[in-house]
Amino acid sequence: DLVYVLNGPNLNLLGTREPTIYGSTTLGAINGMLASRAGELGLRVQCHQSNHEGVLVDWIHEAHGKAARAILLNAGAYTHTSVALLDAIKAVTVPVIEVHLSNPHTREPFRHTSYIGQAARGTIAGFGARSYLLALEAAAGL
Ligand code: DQA
Repeated sequence: DLVYVLNGPNLNLLGTREPTIYGSTTLGAINGMLASRAGELGLRVQCHQSNHEGVLVDWIHEAHGKAARAILLNAGAYTHTSVALLDAIKAVTVPVIEVHLSNPHTREPFRHTSYIGQAARGTIAGFGARSYLLALEAAAGL
């Protein structure tokens, strides 16, 4: 069973990007942990990262076309701005689990609104790299 893991802008810099907020684990390491946990859960992950909004939209469509079981989506700052991503999530039947390393609700007011959250099955935020593993567990239960 296929799970798409989609990461948005600036998440390619994880490891060195504001480590006091996002931790020092790289995206490659997170993807590696997800792949190994997926194996234990009888799942398979396909991991992508882009700094470009439309590319993320295309991957949501692709996950739908491949009948993925779920999408784990950390849309980065597009979380708080992107009607296009919200519409893409609404346009497909694949459940989307919103993921954040930090807890946006404890941060600046502009991070308190999530377009993704308005169509997501659920949200996991605030547990650093573990947020992704917790989201994968959630996907396994869908
Ligand atoms: C983030 C939170 C967003 O507000 C921010 O723009 C990011 C990362 C997180 O994982 O905590 O890029 O999605």
